[in-house]
Amino acid sequence: MSLKIKSLRTLREIDVKGKRVLVRVDFNVPLNDQGDVADDSRLVATLPTIRYLLEQGAGVILMSHLGRPEGKVNDKLRLDGVARRLGELLGRPVRKVDDCVGPAVAVAADQLQPGEVLLLENLRFHPEEEANDREFARSLASLADVYVDDAFGTAHRAHASTVGVAEFLPSAAGFLMEKEVTMLGRILTDPDHPFTAVLGGAKIADKIGMLEKLVEKVDQLLLGGGMANTFLKAGGSAMGDSLVDESHLDFARDFILRARGRGVAVDLPVDLVIAPATRNGSQPETRVVTPGAVPDGWMALDIGPRTVERFQEALAKSKTVFWNGPLGLFEQPAFAHGSEAIARAIARPGLVSVVGGGDSLALLEKTGVAGQITHASTGGGASLEFLEGRELPGVAVLKH
Ligand code: 3PG
Repeated sequence: MSLKIKSLRTLREIDVKGKRVLVRVDFNVPLNDQGDVADDSRLVATLPTIRYLLEQGAGVILMSHLGRPEGKVNDKLRLDGVARRLGELLGRPVRKVDDCVGPAVAVAADQLQPGEVLLLENLRFHPEEEANDREFARSLASLADVYVDDAFGTAHRAHASTVGVAEFLPSAAGFLMEKEVTMLGRILTDPDHPFTAVLGGAKIADKIGMLEKLVEKVDQLLLGGGMANTFLKAGGSAMGDSLVDESHLDFARDFILRARGRGVAVDLPVDLVIAPATRNGSQPETRVVTPGAVPDGWMALDIGPRTVERFQEALAKSKTVFWNGPLGLFEQPAFAHGSEAIARAIARPGLVSVVGGGDSLALLEKTGVAGQITHASTGGGASLEFLEGRELPGVAVLKH
């Protein structure tokens, strides 16, 4: 029996010239109180696909979810603000309709001319979307000739717009989807060594699967943030009032032993920036202490300067780096130094740097190095599941 590795069907492989193309995008973005887009990075990431389709003379019908309206219309989760911002980014009008199926939508799709863009209303106003209802998927599909999925951020959901539609139309991955799958896939299958993962963020629970997979691939793990607090406490360090995931202390102890048993270096902070748990104001009192010397009433909120240096040295020797999760409470300037120093270290030319997770992306922007990163994933849950080695349903339907 011959084993055939399935590959993604990509946008350049299918004929879209003059066709009506239904594109699933992930425009699940934060809105401000006026309903305007507060962070447009997911819109910007999809522009290459939309522009390519428009250049090919396609009529582009975009569909997305926004938030979790639980199958009901919610005026705060309408996509009008998204249409406005997308129109600015594309430099052409984006027509928006107030539903995603039904007669008015069918008419708008019929009237769509080559080179025009139509945005449908939030898919999740209909419970059939998340239920992957076949008739709902058929109604969406009836709007167009071809289906393109560029919503990597939603590819871990088996919904009507990410899976069901592909049954009814010729389908392909958009450029963003292709880039995400290629770059994250490279981390798992073919990373240049030394390969280092920098992991932070508050919680361990939702990252266990990723830790288990990465430990099979990396040469070195650098841990910071709340994640490191739990590992430090598991190793016997007193962590005062620091954020610690008490329910994962046993996991942390066992994981370190297994990682070291495989020859993977696991680096925990050797010093920490701490502040009183009751701190307030923008300039709280801070101290730098060694792990184990965090007094009660104090919290570890950033990695310390010696840890920054050690992590920088490890990164300078690496050829591939994956980073997920900030190394401190970076939203407050007093605790942003560690995360920002690491962001700059991974922005080095020649290093393959892949970054996942919303907080890490915000950090790259804040540090001004987002443009120097090889790939910043738009996926939160999707990139975690991908890096656990799971086949994402929205990706599986695009393979041949
Ligand atoms: C995300 O932002 O992670 C995706 O858009 C998926 O959203 P969901 O977790 O509500 O399915």
